Amino acid sequence: MVINALTEVLFWSDISKIINNAKKLGEKYFPDNPEMYFSEKDKFIKQEIPTKEEFLHRLEYYEKNGSPKWVGGRNDSCDDLSFNDLKKSITESASLKQGEVLSKRHSLIYSKRPGFWKFYTDNIFIGKENTILELTIGAGLGTSVLMQRMSDKDLYMGVDIDFICAKQADALAKYHKVNGLGIATSLWNLPFDDGIFSVVCSDNGLDECREIPTILKEATRVLKSNGKVVLICRDKENSWYPEFRKYGFSNEDAEYWLSKVRLYAGSEQIESLASKYGLRLVSKREEKSYYGTILVFEKQ
Ligand SMILES: C[S@@+](CC[C@H](N)C(=O)[O-])C[C@H]1O[C@@H](n2cnc3c(N)ncnc32)[C@H](O)[C@@H]1O
Repeated sequence: MVINALTEVLFWSDISKIINNAKKLGEKYFPDNPEMYFSEKDKFIKQEIPTKEEFLHRLEYYEKNGSPKWVGGRNDSCDDLSFNDLKKSITESASLKQGEVLSKRHSLIYSKRPGFWKFYTDNIFIGKENTILELTIGAGLGTSVLMQRMSDKDLYMGVDIDFICAKQADALAKYHKVNGLGIATSLWNLPFDDGIFSVVCSDNGLDECREIPTILKEATRVLKSNGKVVLICRDKENSWYPEFRKYGFSNEDAEYWLSKVRLYAGSEQIESLASKYGLRLVSKREEKSYYGTILVFEKQ
C-alpha cells in the first residue's frame, strides 16, 4: 500500500478512510497492476476532494492539527509489516545478490553525472573517519554513491520509514564490504544520541516527507558541532507543485501552502528553515534536472 505525504496531509481528519481505500486497492491491483492502483486512487481522491475550496479546507485543518506522527500504512512495509514482507526483507532485500543488482543499476545512473555526485560525496567525506547518517534511503541510489567511496574507517547508518528500503542498505553494505546498517524508523524522532554523526545527508528524500521542520531539527541534534548536513533537494517541478496546479493554484500559492503545512516547498524553503536550527549554508550546487540543488550546511 502506498500513500504519499501530501495524501496524508489532505486526509488528516480521517486518515483511516484513505488507508482503507489504499488497502482495498492494494489487494486488488498490487503487485501486478500498479497503473490501475494509482489511477483508481487518484479517482477516489478527486471524488473526496472535488474542489479547490475543499482542498484548501483540508490544508487549513492539517496546518492546525497535523503532527509528526507515524500513521499506519505510510508504505509497503513499516508499522504494518506482514510476515511475507519480513521474510522478503531477510531472504531477498538484505542479500549480497540484491546489493550487487542495486549497485550495478545505480552506477549506470550516477556515471551520467559524475561532477554532480563528486560534489555531493566530496562534501560528505570530509575527514579520515566519517560517521555518516543517511536519511531516506529509498531505492538506495544515494546509498550506493556513498558506499563505493567508503573506507573501513568510515561508518554508515541509514534510516527510512520503509523496512525494505532499510534492508536494501544492508545489502549494499554487504556488496561494498563496508561498515553499514539500515534501520526502519521515522525521521521525526531519531533513535540516536545528540552530536554523534560527522555528516547527515539525503538524496532526494525530504521532498517525500511530512513535517520538514522537525526533520531538520532532528538532523541538527544528532550532528557533531561543525558537522555537515548535505542535502540533494529535488527540483520543484518534480515535487508537489504539479499536484497543487491540478486544483488551480499558482506556483506562489502552492509555495505558500506547502510551507504552511510543513511539506517540502523547494530548496529555498530548506535553506531558510535550516538557518533557524543553527545550520549555516556553506556551499551549493544547482543542476538543471530532476536532481535539483545540493545544499551543504555546517552546524554552528
Ligand atoms: C524518493 S525516496 C529517496 C530516494 C533515495 N534517497 C535514493 O537515492 O534512491 C524517499 C524515501 O523517503 C522515505 N520517507 C518518507 N517519509 C519518511 C519519514 N517520515 N521518515 C523516514 N523516511 C521517510 C520513503 O519511505 C522513501 O523511501
